[in-house]
Amino acid sequence: MSLPSRSVSTADLAAAFRAVHASVEKPVFVDPYARVLCGWPLRLALACPPLEHKLKKLAHEALAPITMSIALRASYAEAALERAVASGVGQYVIIGAGMDSFAFRRSEMLERIASFEIDHPVTQRKKLLRARKARLTIPQSHHLIGADLTRKSVTEALAGSPFVMSRPAFLSLLGVAHYLPREA
Ligand SMILES: C[S@@+](CC[C@H](N)C(=O)[O-])C[C@H]1O[C@@H](n2cnc3c(N)ncnc32)[C@H](O)[C@@H]1O
Repeated sequence: MSLPSRSVSTADLAAAFRAVHASVEKPVFVDPYARVLCGWPLRLALACPPLEHKLKKLAHEALAPITMSIALRASYAEAALERAVASGVGQYVIIGAGMDSFAFRRSEMLERIASFEIDHPVTQRKKLLRARKARLTIPQSHHLIGADLTRKSVTEALAGSPFVMSRPAFLSLLGVAHYLPREA
């Protein structure tokens, strides 16, 4: 199964919701790169006041539980990652990363750990193009792995990358499982 290369994906929407969430009074997660990574249709909507107002209204009212869960899951995962790193874990694997901006936001952590993001090649290509356009540099200790997880396991995807199987790692899987069949 391959993901259609449609212009707005669920990964783009999740990024747009993170961007919108940052404007609440007490955000639980601030992602300064969400706007540039969410793709041009959503970025344009967020830059156009009447559309931005509509999107924010939708995100903070009808879709508030979804917006909040997207911000909370990102915040929860990175707080748990920090605890894991403090206890000596040196590898972070972001499965189905979408437009996650860990690599651009957490340079201080990337001096101490290696991170790996696995995503469907279609999504990953889009993200790389957007990052390049925004002149965002992928840090050396962050590794991008394109893999269709219906065809390859996470272990197979990591093989051939600098991931060290014998060392502890912290894995996140946020908003991905329901797109995969049970066997995957
Ligand atoms: C809703 S997005 C979530 C993105 C990100 N984790 C977040 O919280 O914003 C779902 C992600 O799952 C990935 N995905 C869906 N099916 C996949 C597959 N078969 N193989 C690899 N990744 C897949 C998509 O490419 C997308 O990045």
